[in-house]
Amino acid sequence: MNTFTKKCIINISELFNQGDIPMNSIKRVKTGIPELDKLLHGGYVKDSSIVVAGGVGTGKTILSLQFLWTGAKKYDEPGLLITMDESPSELRKEAAMFGWDLKELEDENLLAIIDVATPRAGLPSDERYALREVDLRQIIETVYNTQKEMNAQRAVIDSLSALGFHYESLGKIRSSIFQLTAFLNELEITTLLTTESPNNSVMSRYGIEEFLAQGVIQLFLKDDETGNLQRSFIVRKMRSTPHSLNRYFFEISEKGIVILSS
Ligand SMILES: Nc1ncnc2c1ncn2[C@@H]1O[C@H](COP(=O)(O)OP(=O)(O)OP(=O)(O)O)[C@@H](O)[C@H]1O
Ligand SMILES: [Mg+2]
Repeated sequence: MNTFTKKCIINISELFNQGDIPMNSIKRVKTGIPELDKLLHGGYVKDSSIVVAGGVGTGKTILSLQFLWTGAKKYDEPGLLITMDESPSELRKEAAMFGWDLKELEDENLLAIIDVATPRAGLPSDERYALREVDLRQIIETVYNTQKEMNAQRAVIDSLSALGFHYESLGKIRSSIFQLTAFLNELEITTLLTTESPNNSVMSRYGIEEFLAQGVIQLFLKDDETGNLQRSFIVRKMRSTPHSLNRYFFEISEKGIVILSS
């Protein structure tokens, strides 16, 4: 075999190897829940957008806070949180119950909380980061500027459902969510987007969120056989990740979300 033929064979085999991307070459970001990291082969795909869907009180905000807290505290990955439903002070109090001191992270520039909840309620915000009004362009600009300013690698938008109250038609809401996710896909940032599931069979409020994100985790509060409510979740979709479609039960403990079993 001459040198030219050898070179061609090597190049062709390299080409095939590139097409067949091995699982461990995909960069992953820890979710904040060790059992979920295992289920997802190490965590969420880096720089992807994940929808966290669920009904009222299913744990969407706590799961999001756990993601930001773990990232900043354990992995030195700064995060930003756009809060549309709960005020930053409510969130700090809620997080403190799990031993997560958000103020400490904010003081170390490892977390920025962008207050949209207070302006939504028509009140002035005295937060360091706040929007004047709920407007998609302002949200995009703020995410972009904050991400550059603090090198944020994680983001949470809690919730997409709130965005919808500020647009008069379903078409406008959908196109604004489309623009937001398209923008996030261009940034080097891993984002959780929470959305309200109207019921257990309808995943998202606007029927579009789950199609636009690379991953979907749905949280449930469902009756067990004795009539008590049980918390569970299903990973509905996670691109570039072979994953189980089992239902996993979890509880909210004093340390946050803990997965119990499948
Ligand atoms: N410190 C705590 N310890 C245990 N469980 C808690 C604690 N704090 C809150 N919870 C539980 O978590 C629920 C709220 O979780 P979370 O705020 O994440 O839900 P959510 O899905 O974001 O709700 P919403 O739809 O109202 O935004 C509470 O209703 C309660 O059942
Ligand atoms: Mg919430």
